[in-house]
Amino acid sequence: MSDTALKIRIDYNNMMAEFVGKEGVTEEEIAAWQPAAEQAMAAMKEKRGQMKWRELPHNQKDVVADILALAKEINKDCTDFVVLGIGGSALGPIAVQQALNHLHYNDLPKEKRGGPRLFVEDNVDPERMQALLDVIDLDHTVFNVITKSGSTSETMAQLLIATDLLKQKFGENWTKHVVATTDHEKGNLIKIAKENGLRTFYVPDGVGGRFSELCPVGLIAAAVCGIDIQALLDGAAYMDELCSVDDLRKNPAYMSALLQVMAMKRGKNISVMMPYADSLKYMSDWYAQLWAESLGKKFGLDGSVVHTGQTPVKALGVTDQHSQVQLYVEGPDDKVVTFLGVDKYRATFGIPHGFDAIPDVAFLSGHTMNELIQAEQSATEYALMKAGKPSFTITLPVVNAFTIGELLYYFEVQTAFAGELLQINAFDQPGVEHGKQATYALLGKNGFDEKRAELAAAPKKKAEYII
Ligand code: PA5
Repeated sequence: MSDTALKIRIDYNNMMAEFVGKEGVTEEEIAAWQPAAEQAMAAMKEKRGQMKWRELPHNQKDVVADILALAKEINKDCTDFVVLGIGGSALGPIAVQQALNHLHYNDLPKEKRGGPRLFVEDNVDPERMQALLDVIDLDHTVFNVITKSGSTSETMAQLLIATDLLKQKFGENWTKHVVATTDHEKGNLIKIAKENGLRTFYVPDGVGGRFSELCPVGLIAAAVCGIDIQALLDGAAYMDELCSVDDLRKNPAYMSALLQVMAMKRGKNISVMMPYADSLKYMSDWYAQLWAESLGKKFGLDGSVVHTGQTPVKALGVTDQHSQVQLYVEGPDDKVVTFLGVDKYRATFGIPHGFDAIPDVAFLSGHTMNELIQAEQSATEYALMKAGKPSFTITLPVVNAFTIGELLYYFEVQTAFAGELLQINAFDQPGVEHGKQATYALLGKNGFDEKRAELAAAPKKKAEYII
C-alpha cells in the first residue's frame, strides 16, 4: 500500500453542530478561534526546536541499527524479555506490543513468535513481582530497565530486586542480563550503567517520558519482539508531514486539538477513547497518560491559576457498549468520545448458519464478525449523534507498524497543540513530582526532611470516618 492508502483518517463530522446540535460547534465558532489557532501554530513552529520528540522519526538511523543489532543478539538465547519501567517508560511498549503482535503473543510457541515473551512490569505490587518470577526463566531472561530521570523509585526498586536475583545466580555475569535505557548523564541509572558496563541506550534530551515511545524507550522492546521499527518511524514521519501544515482544515492534529479545546471550554471535561479493536485496547492507556499528564495543569504559561485538563476514560468497543454506552448516550453532556476504528482487520471470521429456524439468531448467519463489529461501531456513533453527543472517529486502514507510527505521532502533536491553545506547559508534570517527593520522604530518602515534617504535620485521619 502507498503512503496515502495507509493514511489514517480523522473524521470530525460528529463534533459539528450541524450533526449533533447545540453540543457541537459551528463554523462561526471555529472562525472565532482562528486568531488563537494562528498564535498556537506560530508557537508550534517557534518551539519545534525544543520539542525534540518531533525529530525522532528523522534522526535515529544509527540508533535503529544499534537496536536491531541488540535485538538480533537477544533473540539468539533469550526466552523472556522484561521491561522494568512505569508511566511513559511502559505504556508505549505495552500499547505497541498489543497493537502489532499476536493478541496471545506470550502464549504462542517460540517458533510462532517474533522473539522472546514480553513482560512489561509497570507496578510495584509484590504479588505481581512474585508472579513474574514464577513464570520467567532467569537463565534466559533479559531485563530492560527504562527510566528517563534515572531516579524513579518504583523502577529502581524493581531493578534492585532483579539485579539481586541475577547476582545470586550469575555472579559478575549479571550484567549480561540487563539493558539500560536512560538519560545521557542525569540520574542514577546512568551511574549504575557506567559503573557496571551495562549495555545502554539513551532517551534524547527534550524527549519527555510520555513523548518517548518512538525512541529506544519503545523501540527496543518492539524490535526484540519482531516489530518493524523502521516502519513505525516511517509512519510517524508521514504524520509529521501532515501535521506540519499551518492550515486547520488540512492539519488533522491541529483541527482535532482545537475542537477538543473548544469542547473543554464548554464543559466537556471527559475524553473517552473507545477503540473497536482489541489490538488498539492499550492505545487508550497510552493516550490517557499523554492527555492527562500534559493538559492537567493548575497554572497557565502566564502564571495564572487555570485548573485545566480533560479526564481521559478508557472504553473498548464493543465490550463497553454493554457497560458504559448507556451513560455516554443518556448521561451528562460532559464528554467527547473518540472512536478508533479499523477498515481491514487482520483476520476474517464468518458467522456460520446453525439455528436458521430462530430468526433473531439466524439474521447473524452469513455475515462476518468483521461486519458485526463495524456495524456496532457505526450504530454507536449514530446513537451518540442522535443523542446530541459529540464524537470523533479515527480510522486506521489497517493496523500495522506504519499506521501505529502515524497514530502515536498524531496524538503527540494534537496534545502539544492543545497545550498551546490552552496556554499551558504540556511537557512538565509538577503534580506527579509532589507525589514522588512524598514517597521519598515516607521511605526515608536523604534530603527530604522538610517534606517528612510536612507529612507528619498533616491532619490525622479520624476513626469516626472509617466504617
Ligand atoms: O511523562 C512523564 O514524564 C512521566 O509519566 C514519566 O514517564 C514517569 O514518571 C516515569 O519516569 P521515568 O521514565 O523518569 O522513570
